[in-house]
Amino acid sequence: MWWARTTTLLVSACLLSALSAHAIWPQPALYGANKTQSFARVSSDLRFNLVDGTDKTRVPSDLTDAIVAATKLANSIDLWPLTPGRGEEDRAAVNAAPLISGVQIKVLELMPETTPNPCAKKQIAEAPLEARSLQAPFQGRLKAIHDVQLDDTTQNQATANTETAEVWSNACSIANRAIKEVDYKVSSKPLDLRTDKSAPADLGFLDAEMYRIDVPQDGSSIRLTSYTALGALRGLQTLLQLIYSLPPQGGKSQRFIRNVPNVITDRPAYPYRGLLLDTSRNWFDLPTIRKLIDTMQFVKLNQLHWHATDTHSWPLAFEGELSVLADKGSYGWTYVDGQLVRMVYTEADIKDIIDYAAARGINVIIETDMPAHMLEGVQAVGGGELMACPNRPDWQSVAAEPPSGQLRLVSNGTTLNTTDVGTFTVPGPIKTFVSTLLRKTASLSKSVYVSSGGDEPNFHCWNLSSEAAMEPYLAKFMAVVTNVTTAAGKKGVVWEEMAVKFPTVAKTLGKGSLVGIWNDPNNAGIAIENNPDVKVVLAPYTFFYLDCGGPVFLGNTTNNNWCPYVSWQKTYSFDPSVVIANATAVNPGLKGVRERFVGGESAVWSEQIDAQNLDVKVWPRAAAGAEVWWSGEVANGKKREPIEALERLLELRWRLVARGVRAEPLQPLWCALRVGECNLY
Ligand SMILES: *[C@@H]1O[C@H](CO)[C@@H](O)[C@H](O)[C@H]1NC(C)=O
Ligand SMILES: *[C@@H]1O[C@H](CO)[C@@H](O)[C@H](O)[C@H]1NC(C)=O
Ligand SMILES: *[C@@H]1O[C@H](CO)[C@@H](O)[C@H](O)[C@H]1NC(C)=O
Ligand SMILES: *[C@@H]1O[C@H](CO)[C@@H](O)[C@H](O)[C@H]1NC(C)=O
Ligand SMILES: *[C@@H]1O[C@H](CO)[C@@H](O)[C@H](O)[C@H]1NC(C)=O
Ligand SMILES: *[C@@H]1O[C@H](CO)[C@@H](O)[C@H](O)[C@H]1NC(C)=O
Ligand SMILES: *[C@@H]1O[C@H](CO)[C@@H](O)[C@H](O)[C@H]1NC(C)=O
Repeated sequence: MWWARTTTLLVSACLLSALSAHAIWPQPALYGANKTQSFARVSSDLRFNLVDGTDKTRVPSDLTDAIVAATKLANSIDLWPLTPGRGEEDRAAVNAAPLISGVQIKVLELMPETTPNPCAKKQIAEAPLEARSLQAPFQGRLKAIHDVQLDDTTQNQATANTETAEVWSNACSIANRAIKEVDYKVSSKPLDLRTDKSAPADLGFLDAEMYRIDVPQDGSSIRLTSYTALGALRGLQTLLQLIYSLPPQGGKSQRFIRNVPNVITDRPAYPYRGLLLDTSRNWFDLPTIRKLIDTMQFVKLNQLHWHATDTHSWPLAFEGELSVLADKGSYGWTYVDGQLVRMVYTEADIKDIIDYAAARGINVIIETDMPAHMLEGVQAVGGGELMACPNRPDWQSVAAEPPSGQLRLVSNGTTLNTTDVGTFTVPGPIKTFVSTLLRKTASLSKSVYVSSGGDEPNFHCWNLSSEAAMEPYLAKFMAVVTNVTTAAGKKGVVWEEMAVKFPTVAKTLGKGSLVGIWNDPNNAGIAIENNPDVKVVLAPYTFFYLDCGGPVFLGNTTNNNWCPYVSWQKTYSFDPSVVIANATAVNPGLKGVRERFVGGESAVWSEQIDAQNLDVKVWPRAAAGAEVWWSGEVANGKKREPIEALERLLELRWRLVARGVRAEPLQPLWCALRVGECNLY
């Protein structure tokens, strides 16, 4: 157990009191700070260095980039304390404090003591990615925009990325760790970041994210220690949250860290800490997605569940035989920062998003939803032969929302009748299409996971008599999906419909595949009962859907949308242990139920969200989810609860604003500056 292993750390931190009020988000596993008022000044030219002795040949480029990015942020972003004086009251004491001018980063996997060397030597010289436009022109439409000059100077983020294919063979990169299968395996050797000189070869997924920060009181360098580059990345995000500024004087900001010394030892509770982004209902440009990834990184979210397609549009611009999907099913043209772009993601864009995320410790799981939630694009395949109930005017009788459409898996029309279970097989054109599609998303994915969605299949759309009547056809369908996914070397991801309602469908899911629970969280226990080989991702809409609340998107009604608004407090109050207890009770005798709960995610279903309001809808509420999954049920020895969390979340919100994220305010600034003075009493 990780707790047992870190008891020594607890003892060493005992001299220091635990200040839960310090503004780290998500809350670290162990945090000790000086309970006496004390400060260290932080140089306005804070230098971050890998410690002497680091094997430079092993340092992955994404770690170098992460250190450069953290240096820039540490030396540019100011957050004044959330007090009425904004820190003015501490000016004299801060100015008298020793000055810290360096951060020494020690990544044990990069030290010569770590043997056998788990890092592949670089095979090919590093070459910058081919310079490309903000949004590469789509396919054959290239000519149509030939005279529209895309401004190459605005491509800073795309071209700054100099990663090459070799990064994926470099076991020491952040990216390499980020894309691994989520699990709870731990290294066979107990870990102690204070004393370990090397990283064990069998480091577990969560061990890799572990880090320790020591902020001294005497002005010597801050020390950040981790086993991996990914762990260093996580630690850098925490470190950035320790730094405050005095109100500027003479145009200069004095930065400082309070309550020194600080000692932080941290490791996540859950390996899957996700955010779902739906790019079908509304499209998001690449800079917006990169910014979302940056903010996810800041709060240590590590899975971007990319719900790429739905009935409304097909933005994945595949090359080759599937190109018709976006050609016919995307939203067409728009302007992004004054540039004309197509609302698609080319294969180069998809790679860009995946690589950008991975270098920030985030795995991208591509979801092409099926057999329901398909229309645009898919309708254009084979003259429409794949579709059942496409865009019906009476959509309400066949789908959850307009426009309707799902794969024509089974027919029960007057002339065409394929309902005979004995002879039923997945229709050839559907099998071919689904196989080609999944092989394509698998080939583009760096992730172990590829998602086929599977929510809300509608029996009326197939002229069946009941929901239960869908089961045999869905089971055959999912068997095909699992086959193709497995053959492509991937694990599947499905929504709970494929695992909870229909036991025989659940049986077709592959070992280690993920099931997203979006209704009653206790459905997780049923999914596990139906197929003990699956793992569970918790995303019940009552706690995690960021689009809930507000007006419905449907015309000619004045109702609110289908689900109630999810406050940050509601998300934060989610207690996975209650759900795990239910699943354990529902599956008596089954070992390792806890280990099947790999985490959860907040969801940005985008019917009413696009780049204009994304920040406000997501932040800081998704950060509440990030803490549920990073910190777990207990943080710093105490059960998490929203009353304690408010003060820290306010600080996070202001830090996000300082970074240019339009996170929504939680309180009047007056209240944010005066902790507790706006409480109910
Ligand atoms: C905490 O800060 C005070 C005041 O600067 C200092 O005297 C004391 O040594 C510090 N405590 C620890 C445990 O370092
Ligand atoms: C459902 O029945 C209608 C006519 O009754 C038919 O046009 C349609 O193709 C049928 N759909 C399926 C999936 O069998
Ligand atoms: C289709 O065939 C089944 C028997 O295989 C029958 O029960 C059903 O009524 C038929 N459907 C229609 C619409 O005729
Ligand atoms: C097919 O449609 C017929 C007529 O509506 C219905 O009686 C039958 O139950 C349907 N078959 C299935 C498998 O639901
Ligand atoms: C899945 O693959 C296995 C082995 O290749 C094959 O025997 C089986 O028929 C396939 N099942 C489906 C539903 O395609
Ligand atoms: C909305 O409009 C549709 C026709 O487009 C009509 O059938 C329906 O009754 C209307 N609903 C309401 C609540 O007005
Ligand atoms: C688990 O949760 C379900 C649904 O909320 C409930 O009906 C059931 O009684 C619970 N089972 C146990 C053993 O707690």
